[in-house]
Amino acid sequence: MSKLKLKTRNIVIAVGCVVIVVVLAVGLFRWKKTLDYQATYEYKLEHHGYSEEDTAYFLEKLSNEELDALLARDVDENIPKFMKEEYYLKKNLDQYLAYYQENSDKSITDVIATVNVGANKEWYTDYVDADTSKDTLVLANKFHFLGENYEPNDLVEVSNWYAYGDGPLLRKIAYDEFVGMYNAAKEDGQDIIINSSYRDYQYQLDLYNDYVSWYGQTKTDEMAARPGFSEHQTGLTIDVTTYGENENTFDKTEEFAWLQNHAHEYGFILRYPEGKEHLTGYEYESWHYRYVGVEVATYIHEHNITYDEYYAFFLEGDN
Ligand code: DAL
Ligand code: ZN
Repeated sequence: MSKLKLKTRNIVIAVGCVVIVVVLAVGLFRWKKTLDYQATYEYKLEHHGYSEEDTAYFLEKLSNEELDALLARDVDENIPKFMKEEYYLKKNLDQYLAYYQENSDKSITDVIATVNVGANKEWYTDYVDADTSKDTLVLANKFHFLGENYEPNDLVEVSNWYAYGDGPLLRKIAYDEFVGMYNAAKEDGQDIIINSSYRDYQYQLDLYNDYVSWYGQTKTDEMAARPGFSEHQTGLTIDVTTYGENENTFDKTEEFAWLQNHAHEYGFILRYPEGKEHLTGYEYESWHYRYVGVEVATYIHEHNITYDEYYAFFLEGDN
């Protein structure tokens, strides 16, 4: 072989080697890139079945631990819908999904509210002791039990100037705020009178039993709390009326309209609103107000939620 031919052959071999190396390198690089991508949560979530939009949402909102937990579940298009809700609680996700499956006619927002307050369960089942250390924010409802012996230690007697009945009692802070509210209403020409305030366990027991004898237990449970479960026992609650009216006509009065606009300014909320019976467990009570302080009352007023929902989200939260 001539020297020239030998040289040409070597060059061809060298170029061939370089081409092979380059092709292999590019292939390796691409393969590595693919492997890297497949290790990302973006790939895993989309491969799992979530849309690009939901994946982007999860990536923005969830920690790696939460993403792993999400990937360990079957894909469910309702999960991102729940997670995007204002009052979503992580601890309740399984309950939201289960309850929604049984109640698909309900809105996602309502499912969240219902599960958060525990109303996806039978009333009075799985109840816990009310946390009285929360002071003016204590929650008493069908899942939070005050017990037979709870009695606030700062009850004061309400003057008959403001109330019907014999020696009615209220916690001092609620009384002071009520007086401020009473005076402001009075200046606007409205008379707000207290019909019922603090009720101890025994009083509530007698009242409840009377109601049961008149209306039967099912109806009574919509109207009156069982003893130990009434927020009247917190000393932070008032039933109000005005001259010449009774409870059932109170929401037709100017006093009611005044309270709708101003009660929160004194820290009171309408505790059992119309349309929220499935969350509070009680019929609409236009006369029943609860002191929770101005900040919380204002939030509740502005966001149109019940105290049960507020407490579940802000005070129990994801614990
Ligand atoms: N009427 C309210 C629910 C109570 O008995 O406490
Ligand atoms: Zn009441």
